[in-house]
Amino acid sequence: MTDPEAALGALVLQALADELGPEYSAADPLIRPSGFADYQSNVAMSLSRQLGRPPRDIAAPVAARLAAASAVASAEVSGPGFINITLADEWIAAEASDQLADARLGVTQADPSQLVVVDYSGPNVAKELHAGHLRPTVVGDAIARTLEHLGYRVLRAAHLGDWGTQFGMLIEHALDIGERETEDELASGEFTAFYQAARTKFDGEPVFADRARKRVVQLQAGEPDSMRLWQLLVDDSMQYLHKIYARLGVSLTDADMAPESFYNSMLDGVCDELQSKGLAVMSDGALCAFPPGFTGRDGNPVPLMLRKSDGGYGYDSTDAAAIRYRLTELGAARIIYVVGSEQNQHLKMIFELARQAGWLVPPATAEHAVIGLMTGPGGQRLKTRSGDQVKLADLMDEAVDRAATVIADRYDDAAQRSQIAEAVGIGALKYGDLSVARDSSYVLDFDRLLALTGNTGPYLQYATARIRSIFARAGLDPADAAGAIRLGTAAERALALQLLGFGRAVDDVAAAAEPHKLASYLFDTASAFTTFYEHCPVLTAEGETRQSRLALAALTLRVLVTGLGLLGIPVPQRM
Ligand code: ARG
Repeated sequence: MTDPEAALGALVLQALADELGPEYSAADPLIRPSGFADYQSNVAMSLSRQLGRPPRDIAAPVAARLAAASAVASAEVSGPGFINITLADEWIAAEASDQLADARLGVTQADPSQLVVVDYSGPNVAKELHAGHLRPTVVGDAIARTLEHLGYRVLRAAHLGDWGTQFGMLIEHALDIGERETEDELASGEFTAFYQAARTKFDGEPVFADRARKRVVQLQAGEPDSMRLWQLLVDDSMQYLHKIYARLGVSLTDADMAPESFYNSMLDGVCDELQSKGLAVMSDGALCAFPPGFTGRDGNPVPLMLRKSDGGYGYDSTDAAAIRYRLTELGAARIIYVVGSEQNQHLKMIFELARQAGWLVPPATAEHAVIGLMTGPGGQRLKTRSGDQVKLADLMDEAVDRAATVIADRYDDAAQRSQIAEAVGIGALKYGDLSVARDSSYVLDFDRLLALTGNTGPYLQYATARIRSIFARAGLDPADAAGAIRLGTAAERALALQLLGFGRAVDDVAAAAEPHKLASYLFDTASAFTTFYEHCPVLTAEGETRQSRLALAALTLRVLVTGLGLLGIPVPQRM
């Protein structure tokens, strides 16, 4: 299975080698989509200076060689030395027929020995997920699904905040109100009230705050009473997370939770190692690392706090232990942290420390897949009327309620209506996130997300349902569509060429952890199908034309369903 850009790239390099010598077969063929042909190659421009020859002089003989290849219909020099290349219809048709017969749809097979850790969602014990968790959860899940589909060994890791200083205050509060009362309050999943009550006491009562600080140290030392109450908080939180993830269609399981407490037994060792390597020093009674290149507003170096002066450990400590564990114990080749932009400096410092310590050694990489802010109208932080954070659960309810209104008049059956509203609402919410560059901020606008046209979840879901209905009317199963694809019209050709780009779109997601590239590809694919369906009758066509158009429709359906699956978007059978 060949992706058109890769196939043309290989042809350009072969032409360069034949024309200029084998040493040129290693150049970048610089293939780009073109408005004047299918693709253009800018390779002559880039070689011109190196060869001391005008680009057109290099382009002309290369274009002549390309034009002679069977995959190419025409190759022409244009402008200062671009090569415009149009693929042969027969080539596109043959490749599309192969793609239909290929279980992987042209997606490449990655090296399964490469372990990729995807750190995402970042939930915290005793806190409800809020609107800000949506993007790091949904984007991280799409990245994990895509890498797994490519064939990498993927370890999902939700770095669960279960070990910070706040647990002292939460446990003391639980002791104050009694264990029974605590259990009743938390089992309902209403963590916010519990957390806020503890916080209020912590901020307003110095005696309580003092108890809370002592309690953290006891907890981190494994004192049994503290541990029991802590476990209560963790268990209730896990049940709650489980429910939210299931409804959101996120592939994180209990086994994917990488709680901060997991690293507890490693923290002393990490501190000792960094100290003996000269990377951690005592500063104001605390053990700190100062990776070079990070200064605060006052111009002073910013520390990573590895052990606080009271002996306690915090977020910096567990992140240092986590990266060491992932690299040196698990042997990760790549770690992707799908985390909000506000933690960029923290993560960069952790990566730099890991590099200095000799844990992060090329070719292994650690990267921050930066997540931008989702805001309310006008770019303001999303909040409730009372000024609190919007709960993720409420956001999902709202999406589904609104979806139900949008589709209300289409279904008589109430059960079916609510099932589809669930898929449309959740799909719209998730797709809204996935269709924009993950590091840009974006305004949550339900009307836009739920629109049935444009680059939206419902539009793509609808595109798949429409293709299924073509097959239903024909009394055929799309899985049975087979045989040669023929390209009689421009719309068929454009659709087939678009479908061949699936493998590349999936690779593009993996390269820089950017799911929106697959989203745009799927939108372009659905649009190409719409144009095709407007211009090319399918069921009323006859003979080989009908068979070929059904095959194209079936291939489109598989590409869309597979792609939406990689993004974690639910695909209802009917809409
Ligand atoms: N729980 C953290 C928070 O709420 C996010 C965790 C991100 N991952 C990490 N390895 N630091 O901010």
